[in-house]
Amino acid sequence: MAKITTLRLSADETGIATAARLLREGQLVALPTETVYGLGADAANDRAVAAVYEAKGRPSFNPLIVHLAELEAVRALVHWSDRAEMLARAFWPGPLTMVLPLREGAPVSRLVTAGLDSLAVRMPAQPAARALLRAFGGPVAAPSANRSGQISPTRAEHVLAGLDGRIAAVLDDGPCAVGLESTILGLVGKPTLLRPGSIGIGALSKVLGVPVAERRDTEAISAPGQLTSHYAPNARVRLNATEWREGEARLGFGDVECDLNLSPEGDLVEAAANLFEYLHRLDASGAPVIAVSPVPHVGLGVAINDRLSRAAAPRDASAGR
Ligand code: TXA
Ligand code: MG
Repeated sequence: MAKITTLRLSADETGIATAARLLREGQLVALPTETVYGLGADAANDRAVAAVYEAKGRPSFNPLIVHLAELEAVRALVHWSDRAEMLARAFWPGPLTMVLPLREGAPVSRLVTAGLDSLAVRMPAQPAARALLRAFGGPVAAPSANRSGQISPTRAEHVLAGLDGRIAAVLDDGPCAVGLESTILGLVGKPTLLRPGSIGIGALSKVLGVPVAERRDTEAISAPGQLTSHYAPNARVRLNATEWREGEARLGFGDVECDLNLSPEGDLVEAAANLFEYLHRLDASGAPVIAVSPVPHVGLGVAINDRLSRAAAPRDASAGR
């Protein structure tokens, strides 16, 4: 990956305007929130979101949290509920992330949700984050702004230590007040704590008037981004296909004839950007098998292959998807 100059922007009017412009251009900007610094990208831009995974060096695609400044904008992306409303009144803006059913056709890259039909949404309280989200005017996908496997950054210096030369800018607003990632609450079925944070399970239960479940131990210990929480196609997936067989849906990579091509030029960022969308489309065609060209196991190719091998893994019919 080519090294770029990472701007260190102050959290004033000029810095925020520059950060918003960079996001609109599809570039990556680290932004301060009250929890930790996030690595922000335009959530509607497939390539920008793919670049987040590349910059972090993540070996797998983990769904990302989308950040917004206005409730109305949140409601346009997810199916809102009375419970979500109660929680938003009590805790937003603030360090709570809610996972809600994604609205059909919501303008969010499939790479943000890693192909799932739920979306994690959060309204941060940090004034600089809110100002940037308003200036940008759309959903911003942001995982913590650290290289994969390193700890979450709570200062601009931490962000630069891991990502200098890999992202367009960091908006520097000093240390984060909370310093711990947001509490994540699943609201797709019964309210379930998916990740503990500074807002405790007791406070959540109190607001909802019902007990919040904790994720079962077996799920809690599984690393983020594992099969049970991930989109799996109905079709069987055949990997490393160097020739096509009758009746297969053909997902190509590079210079091959196929139904959909992840990247005719063999560009891994483009391939990542297209991956979930194309898997969904070929699955919707009803073909029993999706055959996939080999994808080189370097850079983002590692994450792509991880996802493809999960999609190809034999599945227990009773296991949750
Ligand atoms: O405080 C925070 O939440 C920070 C700041 C930047 O907002 N962000 C953060 O993002 O910690 P990240 O990517 O490091 O962690 C996001 C977590 C992951 O464990 C992911 O699996 C979970 O959120 N997540 C995202 N979307 C989800 C979904 N649809 N269903 C279940 N879990 C989801
Ligand atoms: Mg993280």
